[in-house]
Amino acid sequence: MAIKPELIEILRTRRGKITEHVSPEKLDALHAKGLLSARERINWLFDEGTFQEVGMHAKHHAVHFGMAGRELPADGVITGTGYLGSVQVASYSQDFNVLAGTLGKMQARKITRIMRYALKTGVPVVAFKDSGGARIQEGVDALSGYGDVFYSNVMLSGVVPQIAVVCGPCAGGAAYSPALMDFVIMTRKNSHMFLTGPEVIKAVTGRATTMEEVGSATMHSSVSGNVHFVAEDDQSAIALVKRILSFLPANNTEDPPHNLDTMIEDTPDRGLEELVPDSPSEPLDMESIIRRLVDNGELLEVHADFARNVIVGFARFSGVIVGVVANQPKVMAGALDLNAADKVARFVRTCNVFNVPLVTLVDVPGFLPGVEQERGGIIRHGAKMLHAYASCTTPKITVLLRKSYGGSYLAMCSQELGADMVFAWPTAEIAVMGSEAAVKILYRKELDAAEDRAARAAELAQEYRDEFASPYEAAANFYITDVIEPCETRAAISIALRKTLNKRELRPSKKHGNMPL
Ligand code: HXC
Repeated sequence: MAIKPELIEILRTRRGKITEHVSPEKLDALHAKGLLSARERINWLFDEGTFQEVGMHAKHHAVHFGMAGRELPADGVITGTGYLGSVQVASYSQDFNVLAGTLGKMQARKITRIMRYALKTGVPVVAFKDSGGARIQEGVDALSGYGDVFYSNVMLSGVVPQIAVVCGPCAGGAAYSPALMDFVIMTRKNSHMFLTGPEVIKAVTGRATTMEEVGSATMHSSVSGNVHFVAEDDQSAIALVKRILSFLPANNTEDPPHNLDTMIEDTPDRGLEELVPDSPSEPLDMESIIRRLVDNGELLEVHADFARNVIVGFARFSGVIVGVVANQPKVMAGALDLNAADKVARFVRTCNVFNVPLVTLVDVPGFLPGVEQERGGIIRHGAKMLHAYASCTTPKITVLLRKSYGGSYLAMCSQELGADMVFAWPTAEIAVMGSEAAVKILYRKELDAAEDRAARAAELAQEYRDEFASPYEAAANFYITDVIEPCETRAAISIALRKTLNKRELRPSKKHGNMPL
């Protein structure tokens, strides 16, 4: 029995109404602003022809306030799965052209259904956020929907990668869903994210403010730290999503996609030494050192504009995917402060849950001294780094380049914090504090009596560095694996990574550690 043509026609008409509700003029206007429609975002994300939609015909219940007779195509969110190369990904994309992409019970059901699918099948989730928040007409049903989404975010956390792309408004409690995900991308001009916007802030506190000040991509990426990446427009945000996923496994039971066929490059790299200044007091540019060490100079910096005194990001060493953590002496001398501690601790934990080995490059004068730091809780924040590194069971390789002082030496993954191998350059200085400060404390009387105080202080500082803070002193006490020439660093790290990739560390069973927050 053949299917009646009118049944096919009905299906096609229904599909068309749902998928083609944005007019060509409206689409042109979106494109002119660097925006894509919700469906275009999905199409740009996935390999052609691989997207399977889930729940296209689902819709809200008309019983909600003022909703009778309102058509909301796909209930304002497109959900489904597709492929990026051989990797399946689950995605949802809020449709701002349907009642401002607002979330009610059915939209939440669609989102949580696709998240549960991702959990069951162990595939990453990519979420496009473009929404006016809770759908007012749905009242408590909308709030409940958000609760369901947050709960699902937490269930997926540490199991599959979750990436949020904020492409438009992300207002009110809705902003908590991105905050519960692993990576948040905002587009530079078209997105904003806040709990309470300028109008509410003015009404409640009397202070006039702007969206730029409280909700822009620039603010969140450089001040609040809520956002890891800023993309120029929707298309570059999607390219960034693909780049992030290229460094991650599909889920926590798998390894990242290392390329172990890559030959280890063991020719000494003399050019690296030219990047190190002659004087130990002149800051080196850690970013240029990292790019010199890693495959093809490719570093995907995470949180690049936040706490720039440290650098974290993904790279490869002879095909092995790693998370790099490093001090950046060009900013605040590379000292660790409140935000740097948060940035490092978060990144270390992200790498650990997805089995990404860590390479830590150290040139750190200490934790930043200061009233604001102490009152801001640098003890609590710094402890997050200790907790994160000590809890991390992926391979951990540390290289001490120059300064490695005090608590910050430990906080940058020393042997005691669980580093599997620690290499030191001959220029490394490992001590309780820097030579100048130590000499002032230890030789105060002698310096007071000296004819040329500055010259004597410099002489003593040099002695302190050579004899006491020298890497050979640390090596003699077996606190480091080996002292290496800088030109050997790339090979040393690459070989150490290959050797430690299969390491297994058993920890006492517990619900979870009680990390200082
Ligand atoms: C229902 C909404 C809505 C909402 C917008 N609309 N926001 N409908 N609930 N939250 C509707 C509008 O009435 C309009 O419907 C259509 O969406 C497009 O909105 P416009 O205002 O015309 O568009 P635009 O000028 O582009 O402004 C978009 C906007 C603005 C910036 C998102 O609408 C806005 O500020 N909305 C409120 C945002 C907000 O305060 N959200 C927080 C909600 S509370 P018609 O019928 O005219 O097409 C919340 C708490 C959640 O989210 C707590 C969870 C824990």
